[in-house]
Amino acid sequence: MGGMSVFRTKTIEQSLADTDEPEYQLKRRLTAIDLTVFGIGVVIGAGIFTLTGKVAAEYAGPGVVFSFVLAAICCALAALCYAEFASTVPVAGSAYTFSYATLGELIAWIIGWDLILELMLGAAVVAQGWSQYFVTFLDEIGITWPAGIGPSSSTSFEWDHVNVPALLLVVGLTTLVALGIKESLRVNLVLVAVKLFIVLFVIVAGLFYVSGANYDPFIPPAADPVDSSGLAQPLIQWAFGLQPQTFGILGVISAASVVFFAYIGFDVVATTAEEAENPQRDLPKGILASLAICTVLYMAVALVITGMVPYDQIDPDAALATAFRDVGQSGFATLIAAGAVAGLTTVVMTLLIGAIRVLFAMSRDGLLPPGFGRTNPRTGTPVRITVTIGALVAVVAAYTPIGKLEEMVNIGTLTAFALVSIAIPVLRRTRADLDRPFRVPLSPVLPILSALICLYLMVNLSLETWLRFLVWMVLGFLVYFVYGRSHSRVGAAARAEAARTTV
Ligand code: ALA
Repeated sequence: MGGMSVFRTKTIEQSLADTDEPEYQLKRRLTAIDLTVFGIGVVIGAGIFTLTGKVAAEYAGPGVVFSFVLAAICCALAALCYAEFASTVPVAGSAYTFSYATLGELIAWIIGWDLILELMLGAAVVAQGWSQYFVTFLDEIGITWPAGIGPSSSTSFEWDHVNVPALLLVVGLTTLVALGIKESLRVNLVLVAVKLFIVLFVIVAGLFYVSGANYDPFIPPAADPVDSSGLAQPLIQWAFGLQPQTFGILGVISAASVVFFAYIGFDVVATTAEEAENPQRDLPKGILASLAICTVLYMAVALVITGMVPYDQIDPDAALATAFRDVGQSGFATLIAAGAVAGLTTVVMTLLIGAIRVLFAMSRDGLLPPGFGRTNPRTGTPVRITVTIGALVAVVAAYTPIGKLEEMVNIGTLTAFALVSIAIPVLRRTRADLDRPFRVPLSPVLPILSALICLYLMVNLSLETWLRFLVWMVLGFLVYFVYGRSHSRVGAAARAEAARTTV
């Protein structure tokens, strides 16, 4: 397409050729198992450690297990689409790169900008969750962290309050990531093992304390609709007057849009495409295997926790640890807090890596200044981008009140999922010739269904979230039209081609 058109696409061959440029080359060292571990490392995090209890207590009772299934179905549909793309276009940048090849530069930019929001804010949110568990853990072993420099309980901005544990965590992990991906994955492996052990421990040890009576009723009867108004109301209520429901079948469905957060991250596997030894075979495996393993574990944890404690008595903040304290096992509670600290560390690190890879791909394409994305010859990693992202995430994690940003992460992710799903049938039509080692079954039905489910979950998010999201997007448009559009490498090549043919 034309040199100035915002719908110009980057051919898949060009995307693949770019990965061979030495200045922007990442090292191909990861196997299918590495990718699955990477996926589990990012997926199991604040969601299962904190949201399960909150959602069971406030929305769904033991029926939260169905909410996990519903959210998993939404993610599985999107995961199939990601797997097809990753096997067809095995280039760093995930959804951003896929859409550049299919839907054109402007949409690609929107998705990339969107992914940066998801990944950076996700890292900041989980770093804050980490700091809460860290302080709880210290408390359990008799050390009191000074409240003035810990996680704040305030819901508004306080510039004189710094969440120091969250800040230190992000700075430490940024340094690790800058030193090299294989090294960071080695640390990841150990931490993922600890996290899996803790989750399995909760399931197995908890089974001994499950009482059948707590499952009755399994889905508590519907309560009165939640009375939210102003900016806090969901878009669907503002537009159609549909108020969110707690408990009952509708409560289980609303809960699905909240526990969705627990699955976020499997898509990040696709951002490491250029570091995989055999991306076309291993990326689909890594994406689908990590999602499947997490779904089974989440369902089991949800069943055990709601079986241990009556749903209306579950602690909404630290359900996993508190459930064991309630049955007289404080030692187990300490162990679980320690496991959460280890577990959340890998989530923050992997989200940081994802954000860095997306920005890397965008700067390599000239949509952001290219010098920014150059890899350092010694570490083989894009050091400048790494430091910039690390600094931004550290500031957001240190200063934003806890609980403010989760929905922003969900909206960013759902937008990317929806666009990737739509891109599948588009690419099948426009580039039928490409080799697709993995194919989504029943296309276009499943991809369209996937996009519709994402849209439904999005309209359940609050007006406030939509407004913040719009502000971020407007900022993105400004950057694109001021810089990216005229500096894009694809655009420059198209203009050169046009000049040559007119001479
Ligand atoms: N899925 C990740 C978590 O639950 C983001 O922490």
